[in-house]
Amino acid sequence: MKILVTGGTGFIGSHTVVELQAKKHDVIIVDNLSNSSADIVDKIALISGIKPELEVFDLTDKDLTSDFFKRHNDISGIIHFAAFKAVGESVQKPLLYYRNNLESLVNILQGMKDNNIKNIVFSSSCTVYGQPDELPVSENAPIKLAESPYGNTKQISEEIIKDTVKATDINAVALRYFNPIGAHKSAIIGELPIGVPNNLVPFITQTAIGIRECLSVFGDTYETPDGTAIRDYIHVVDLAEAHVIAVDRMINNKMKNNYEVFNLGTGNGYSVLEVINSFEKVTGLKLNYKIVDRREGDITQVWANPDYSNNELGWKAKKGIDEMTLSAWKWEQALANNK
Ligand code: UFG
Repeated sequence: MKILVTGGTGFIGSHTVVELQAKKHDVIIVDNLSNSSADIVDKIALISGIKPELEVFDLTDKDLTSDFFKRHNDISGIIHFAAFKAVGESVQKPLLYYRNNLESLVNILQGMKDNNIKNIVFSSSCTVYGQPDELPVSENAPIKLAESPYGNTKQISEEIIKDTVKATDINAVALRYFNPIGAHKSAIIGELPIGVPNNLVPFITQTAIGIRECLSVFGDTYETPDGTAIRDYIHVVDLAEAHVIAVDRMINNKMKNNYEVFNLGTGNGYSVLEVINSFEKVTGLKLNYKIVDRREGDITQVWANPDYSNNELGWKAKKGIDEMTLSAWKWEQALANNK
């Protein structure tokens, strides 16, 4: 089956391409390389033995997107990752985020409709739940007012998809990710933050390797056992596997409804200090960190109820926090060795 992966040279996208190839899918990537590079397809080939096809263009370009779908109307399913994802930047540049994340989605859905392409898996986020009233959070929890334009693009995208599914033959699955971290066990692909990382684990590994001087832990006065904020960290390879299952479920007509939503988390929450402890334990290193003020917009705690995904998709996150932090570290070391 031919699967289009938008944003397939990015962090989650590249890991998903590898898992799709392992399941014998034929992959075509569309990426504008705004936050990645073209040589990722060679790295994917080093792992899988197959170099995926790559077309470089911007999905916000209506004409180029329309032309692409005309040329590739034999696509069985789309996994749509391509989007901007920095929460802080989205607050500074909301129009950039709305234009990029929403126009590309509309162009893709239009291309699907015009060329009778039926199936799309959408990259959503647990950010749609805000600070949930009940934990663990399940898929039917209320959607809260978005904390950032980035989060809002995920909410609006889900609405756009839902409305389109109602009015067309298109089927869609929205996957709400918790906190993806880690890297492929080969250490050939992983997360490549440009500039100073916003996210916790890349900041930890960059500090440990000497690129950053000190990790700032954003707040230790949250109402949690150790005072630091809690998240549900999930290994990117576990996450990638769920995408393959989701797209196969659509292709094989196994959906319960034409629009489905699944949480992708482990069901376990770890505090910032627990993540640091895991990192120190598996690497034997001492991490330089200090407690600073809370970061604006951060919630206290969130972790998934993954029961529905586990039961319906027959999928379960298998890798624990130590495997996540160790794989992230091996990736950081591989990056340093390849410089
Ligand atoms: N943190 C630090 N220091 C850092 C970076 C992060 O203490 O240098 C803390 C944060 O305050 C938070 C935790 O580590 O408590 C995780 O932070 P991340 O930035 O790694 O992840 P977030 O939970 O803030 O963000 C993730 C995704 C977003 C998504 C958001 C929704 O990266 O795409 O969840 O909550 F929008």
